[in-house]
Parts: sequence; C-alpha cells; structure tokens
Amino acid sequence: MRHFLTLRDFTKEEILEIIDLGLQIKQNLKSGIYNGELKNKTLAMIFEKSSTRTRVSFETGMFQLGGHALFLSNRDIHLGRGEPVKDTARVISSMCDMVMIRTFEHSMIEEFASYSKVPVINGLTDSYHPVQLLADYMTLVEHGAHKNIVAAYVGDGNNMTHSWMMLAAKLGFELRVATPKGYEVDAKILQDALEIAKASGAVIKTMNDPKEAISGATVVTTDTWVSMGQEDEKEQRIQAFKGFMVDDEVMSLAQEGAKFLHCLPAYRGYEVSEEVFEKHSKIVFDEAENRLHAQKGLMVWLDKQRDM
Ligand code: CP
Ligand code: NVA
Repeated sequence: MRHFLTLRDFTKEEILEIIDLGLQIKQNLKSGIYNGELKNKTLAMIFEKSSTRTRVSFETGMFQLGGHALFLSNRDIHLGRGEPVKDTARVISSMCDMVMIRTFEHSMIEEFASYSKVPVINGLTDSYHPVQLLADYMTLVEHGAHKNIVAAYVGDGNNMTHSWMMLAAKLGFELRVATPKGYEVDAKILQDALEIAKASGAVIKTMNDPKEAISGATVVTTDTWVSMGQEDEKEQRIQAFKGFMVDDEVMSLAQEGAKFLHCLPAYRGYEVSEEVFEKHSKIVFDEAENRLHAQKGLMVWLDKQRDM
C-alpha cells in the first residue's frame, strides 16, 4: 500500500504513470466512457482549511469513478474538538477505502498515514501541495510544453514552491526560484531536493531577483503571497513582496511563447497582473480542470497498488 504525501516518495516513472493514467481516464470521460474503477469505494476528505478546486475535483472524481466521497470539515468531526489524529485515522480507515487530507502541519498527515490502513493523499499541507503538481505537469504535457523545461517560480517560498522543487528534482528539469529575502524556501526541503537532483540531473537555483529567474524561462509560475493560515501577516507580506508581481514587463523576459501557470486562487494586482493572468487564462483554467483528471489517475493508481 502506498500513500501520496509528497512527490519525494515517488519515482519519475511512477509520477509519469499516474499522469498518463489520468490522461487516459480524461479521454474516456470526454468520450462518455465510465469504467467504474472505484465502484463501491469511499474516499474520506478531511478539510482543516478552505478549498474550491480540491474539494470539487476529489468529490466529482470519486463519483465519476463509481465511488463516493465524504466531505468532513474539522467543524463536523471530533478531530476539530481534540480527538487524537491516531484515533481518527484508525476509525476512518476501518470504514473508508482512501483518505484525502488538507491540513496545516505536514507532520499531522504523516501521523495519520502511519496509523491508516488505507492510502492517504495529501490535499495540501503547509509544506507541500503534490496533487497540484500532478495537474500542472499534465497541463504542460497537453500543451506540448513538457520538454526541456526551464521553470521560474516567483513569489513566496511555500508549499507550492516546495512541490515544484520536488517535481523538478524527480523529473530532472531546471527550476529557478525567486523569493524576497526572508521568504525563502525551507532549507531542509531545498537540501533534500538538491540531493535528489543529483541523480536526475535537475538544476534547482534559488535567488532573490524575479528577473534573473524569469529570463529565458519556458514556464513561469507563482502563487499567493498570503497562504492559508498566514492571514495575520497580510500587510507585512504585501510590503515585502513589492517587485515580485508577474506582470508584462517581467514576463517579456521569458522565452517567446512561455507558459504561465497558477494553482489558483489568484490575486490580481499582487502576485500576478490582471493582464498576464487573462492572457494566459486558457492554460490556467485547463490546469484547474486537470486537478480532476490527474487525481482520478492517482486514486485509481493507489487503489491498484493495494491489490498487488
Ligand atoms: N489550487 C487549489 O488547491 O485550490 P483550492 O484551495 O481551491 O482547493
Ligand atoms: N500556497 C497556497 C496554495 C493554495 C492552493 C496556500 O497554502 O494557501
């Protein structure tokens, strides 16, 4: 049995296999073919933070695969009132076939997984957002932009950045990360990614200059400056991130035809300008839709591992 907590635990081949499976299931859906791969199975979805895409995509995906999803906010279950994670894990995994969790500390999901009898999927923690990266890479494949990637991430050194670092390290592409001073990526995760990169040939560079990161990039991406749980730091962050907006001026430094990705929700006038966002809205909303397809591939893949 496998859990999907970070891309770190997956090989390049496995990541590509999951995406490929997602693309096949997407093709089936578009042709009106439903194979009921997860018929009679249930997915428990624990949300300790808000979500639009993650909830809609997992719930819809599970239904389309013939199964059922349970939405469990921490206001509804005893976890939110102090029932231990390890007890919650043992109860839920005795009844459900898979669990998706969106939470704060990454250690919570690790603890849950260590007590779970069924696969656990990370639907975002403070440290990582790996399901988003499956959708992002799937989108690059569909847009023919997955070869010789030189990616630039401009903004906060957060869960999205860490997952981009893991994807680059595993797949072996170049990633430049530009953050303001004081908002750099987690040093331990960077070390880890650099170690993995040695084997794949990935080049991962961190810097404080967005222009340096974007120059010649084939893929440009960013994320909110204020992640969930950081609302109290909003004003201070807006000051610190001045000069880090992806606008037409910096975007013009990227390679001709460079793709822009955003995990959403997007805050125009902060991490991205209205113009850049709207110019690239087709690919950004393909990326959002691909959450559904990539995660269906992931759930079917994880379910298959249990049968092996
Ligand atoms: N990108 C993403 O995870 O969106 P939600 O927070 O809406 O789920
Ligand atoms: N970094 C953002 C991602 C939202 C999908 C957050 O954690 O809020």
